[in-house]
Amino acid sequence: MNENKKYCILTYGCQMNVHESEKLAGFLQERGYTETQEQNQADVIVFNTCCIRKSAEEKILGNIGAVKPIKKKNPNLIVAVCGCMSQQTDMADYIQKTFPFVNIIFGTHNLNKFGNFLDEYEQTHKKIKDIEQQVIVDENVPMYRTSGYNGWVNIMYGCNNFCTYCIVPYVRGREVSRRPQDIIDEVESLLKTGKYKIITLLGQNVNSYGKDLGGDITFAKLLKQIAELPYEFKIKFMTSHPKDLTDDVIDVIAENDKISKTIHLPVQSGSNAILKKMNRNYTVEHYLNVIDKIKSKIPNVSLTSDFIVGFPSETQEDFEATCNLVKRVGYNGIFAFMYSPRPGTPAAQMQDQIPLDEKNKRVNALLAIEKQISHQKTNEMIGNIENCIVDKVLDDGNYLVKTDSGKTIIVGNAILEPYSFVNIKIDKLIDNQLYGTVVN
Ligand code: SAH
Ligand code: SF4
Ligand code: F3S
Repeated sequence: MNENKKYCILTYGCQMNVHESEKLAGFLQERGYTETQEQNQADVIVFNTCCIRKSAEEKILGNIGAVKPIKKKNPNLIVAVCGCMSQQTDMADYIQKTFPFVNIIFGTHNLNKFGNFLDEYEQTHKKIKDIEQQVIVDENVPMYRTSGYNGWVNIMYGCNNFCTYCIVPYVRGREVSRRPQDIIDEVESLLKTGKYKIITLLGQNVNSYGKDLGGDITFAKLLKQIAELPYEFKIKFMTSHPKDLTDDVIDVIAENDKISKTIHLPVQSGSNAILKKMNRNYTVEHYLNVIDKIKSKIPNVSLTSDFIVGFPSETQEDFEATCNLVKRVGYNGIFAFMYSPRPGTPAAQMQDQIPLDEKNKRVNALLAIEKQISHQKTNEMIGNIENCIVDKVLDDGNYLVKTDSGKTIIVGNAILEPYSFVNIKIDKLIDNQLYGTVVN
């Protein structure tokens, strides 16, 4: 019905949103639309938004504003805004007022109604703004997957943790786990196609998977059940919370070749005073204890983390404690963010907000420390043999392969099957690029 019509989806924020854009695309494909990267060519433009930091919101508002001249040239263009940013009712009102050319506004909880919204708008040409407050788990949402050999699979929605800086619990609602059988069926349907080699399980806090289901299913059991599926593939997952990462999960990871040995364990700060104000519910000592357990049970583990610097009242000593933690753990990579006050969150009301230039100095200092450490970690990989996935053939006939932790290695003198797993010996590091050869 919509032959020759095209859509363009702009996705901001985390992997959850990347995957939800695959669901938005599913509704559009179902209606005959095809994908374009060019907003000028599109009949439907969708902004799938993020509000984790103010800078994200500002960028998105600028990009929505930039659609105005496109809409002027093509008055039939449908513009939709959805996701975490528009889930905030004040922000949805603001978008409607500031950008009258936006036709459809909805939030995170009613993404499953996107198809209805499109149909309704096409029939009536009346603007739609519909923000739902309840988390709805809908197993019948179409999907048009666009992440190559990686299949994203939601295992749960929402977050109950209310870290004092974070807006996610307000825009994603309380934790709701999907039923284990629904998850396993979805994973199996992906693996059966032979196209998907990495399955990434998604949730804001995957370690509390199942707690709301009342039975005896846990994240460790779910991981184990998925790892038992008889296909060649790897399982990744994000995100883990240090207060909930239990020994049984560490053991399952250690015991299963199919489970990735890369663990993202956001700590946010190395100061107990700040962790307490953040409502993270663990101490630095507890975190290090978990890290040490992981390292002893999974010797080849690759660890990554998130940090927030310049949280209200963070002193120079607090910040130095964070730097020391980074050195002590020896991460393979980190993300470091300047604290951004979010409307409605407790930390936004706290005294002693840190000036922007100080936050900027601290974030750069932390990243400089990590740069040295991760360079050293990469250097230490030389001589290792790693099981990698063949990511693509390069123009010069060499291959790009990816390690378990996502590092790229260039491999020549071989004929490799794209998206297969191969063992690679890492030979050298030149200008930050690893080179290797196939071993049998
Ligand atoms: N559920 C995940 C991801 C949360 S958002 C988790 O708990 O780890 C990803 C990262 O954004 C967080 O780990 C945190 O480091 C950062 N973040 C969240 N709120 C922020 C804020 N208000 N300002 C700056 N960074 C923030
Ligand atoms: Fe935000 Fe904390 Fe929940 Fe992560 S665990 S989404 S940081 S409230
Ligand atoms: Fe952003 Fe929402 Fe993810 S706020 S980080 S897109 S859960």
